Amino acid sequence: MFYTELEKKRYLNVQCDIKLADARRTKIRANSVGTIITSPPYVTSYEYADIHQLTAYWYEYISDLPEFRKNFIGTFYSLNQDTNCQSKKAQQIVNELLKKDDRTAKEVANYFNDMEAVGKEMYRIVKKNGHICIVIGNTTVKDVKINSAEVFYEILGNAGFKEENVIKRSIPNKLMPTIRDKNTGRFSKKDNENSKMVYPEEYILILKK
Ligand SMILES: C[S@@+](CC[C@H](N)C(=O)[O-])C[C@H]1O[C@@H](n2cnc3c(N)ncnc32)[C@H](O)[C@@H]1O
Repeated sequence: MFYTELEKKRYLNVQCDIKLADARRTKIRANSVGTIITSPPYVTSYEYADIHQLTAYWYEYISDLPEFRKNFIGTFYSLNQDTNCQSKKAQQIVNELLKKDDRTAKEVANYFNDMEAVGKEMYRIVKKNGHICIVIGNTTVKDVKINSAEVFYEILGNAGFKEENVIKRSIPNKLMPTIRDKNTGRFSKKDNENSKMVYPEEYILILKK
């Protein structure tokens, strides 16, 4: 259906330029981007470097997986020791986690501080009146609710963006795992005793510069 729509509007042959960069610091010119549409990394859900490793080795753009891992947002392998967050909502979550597990608290603080850097970078590159659309879901780690959508909203507001629309979406039949390990927040199987169901719900935050 989407394909037919694109065909009808003659969007199938639009030229596309793919660039690879770290979203925290790109070389994109300031005030040059019309719209950003993105689904950023989820907190503590995936080790993205491990997911990408087959492609990365195959196309020979990595030779050292441990080094490759360190550049990902939301990685367990970050060396960050800081538990201070710029975002107040992120700090509340990290403080709750500090009561349960130091390592996870550092991981989550690092994730939100990285996303703070991404928020500032997006603001730098987007044109005045340009939009950003962010898809993000909430989760629970070690019985602490991680309201990533609310934290992102605060982070993007701090960066200078203004709200246009917030859409909450239930995804009844989205093909994604909905069972998570209560301790790690990672996707899990039903027979794991730490499993808990995670509501397949996500938010689309639409903001304007
Ligand atoms: C939720 S996934 C979205 C995937 C994407 N929408 C797609 O369909 O391929 C988040 C993505 O962010 C990427 N990512 C992690 N750290 C990043 C960074 N520092 N800069 C840019 N992208 C990063 C991950 O590799 C992952 O592919």
